[in-house]
Amino acid sequence: MKKLFLSAILLSLTISASSQKFENLAKTPQMGWNSWNTFATNINEQLVKDIADIFISSGLKDAGYEYILLDDGWMDMQRDKSGNLVPHPVKFPNGIKAVSDYVHSKGLKFGLYNCAGNKTCAGYPGSRGHEYQDALKYAEWGVDYLKYDWCDTGELNPKEAYTTMRDALYAAGRPVFLSICEWGDAEPWEWAGNIGHSWRTTGDIFACFDCIEDHGTWKSWGVMQILNMHDNTILRKAAGPGHWNDMDMLEVGNGNLTFHENQSHFALWAILNSPLILGNDLRNMSEETLSILKNKDIIALNQDALGIQGFKYTDMGSVEVWVKPLVNGEWAICFLNHSTTGAVEFEFDWNEQIVKDEVFGNEVAFSGKNVYKIKDLYTGKAMGDTQKVLKGKLEKNQSLVVRIYK
Ligand code: GLA
Repeated sequence: MKKLFLSAILLSLTISASSQKFENLAKTPQMGWNSWNTFATNINEQLVKDIADIFISSGLKDAGYEYILLDDGWMDMQRDKSGNLVPHPVKFPNGIKAVSDYVHSKGLKFGLYNCAGNKTCAGYPGSRGHEYQDALKYAEWGVDYLKYDWCDTGELNPKEAYTTMRDALYAAGRPVFLSICEWGDAEPWEWAGNIGHSWRTTGDIFACFDCIEDHGTWKSWGVMQILNMHDNTILRKAAGPGHWNDMDMLEVGNGNLTFHENQSHFALWAILNSPLILGNDLRNMSEETLSILKNKDIIALNQDALGIQGFKYTDMGSVEVWVKPLVNGEWAICFLNHSTTGAVEFEFDWNEQIVKDEVFGNEVAFSGKNVYKIKDLYTGKAMGDTQKVLKGKLEKNQSLVVRIYK
């Protein structure tokens, strides 16, 4: 009887041990680079090596970027006779292990893409029915991160399908960050917290500040469209250390975004605790773009240990005010002029403001002796304190991002 009891305990331990995600991989939102936004399936070994080298030479690694991620298109069109995934022979003639070794040799981490369906979104072999076999392959290749997509999934249940992949990765034994890419259709914020480390909340981003790109059967979204989908307490509640809302990969440096739009895009993704996954061609980026991506004060908002997703505090005409509570009772405040016409002047009288975060119970008011200092996070300069009315002028889609502290 005792023996039976013990084996029952052991069995339940084994089951629970095989049904969890890897912990401690996402205390703060992940930072890295992904091939998709610029290169689509046009990727290869040399590109990965170049990107890894640039992570070091440009200071991106020092700024906190860690993962180099190959999106769709790294495989051959067919699995081999044993059902294993095969690296594309022309794009990756030395296999995936060779590129992952190169990335690791630079002190960085490496990730791949696959899909829960029969085929990936670009038509390569998906993982459906091969989850455990693929997870073993990833472990053999030294994969640290899996972006797992949702094309060609038919009647599959997303919670079950993502749980299967989570369990397969866990069983393979190598810690892997699981990035769920289900586009928010089945509200992953309701069920994915114990399954993945982040989940996409929306359809794909498009490299514009304020537009919707209609592809016929689906649409992709500009920066403002995605931002506005996140002014939402349900999403805020679901995010925190270990599990983040993913607003999709950055378009900073892509499309026709202006300098100010790039700045605003980056700061808002940081303030809303989205993963900071770069999507531009790092081999051909301007100094301006690099300076936005390396802004340590903005990155610090995203990587803040409290892990509280920012929210919209108020609208002042065309100037939107987004805020984020930070450690030690500090706050980030972003003033964004989302005007369709042009520049505006604005005033912000701190004395009149009481900022409340109803979801996480933070509050800040500035009246009386409760004075905060202000730092402009784009210039790094001190801007006085909250006793004086803040006055500013912002061009169209320009933002001012400040940190307030005692
Ligand atoms: C989907 C994803 C994108 C990208 C492509 C690849 O559209 O949402 O981020 O991974 O598939 O085909």
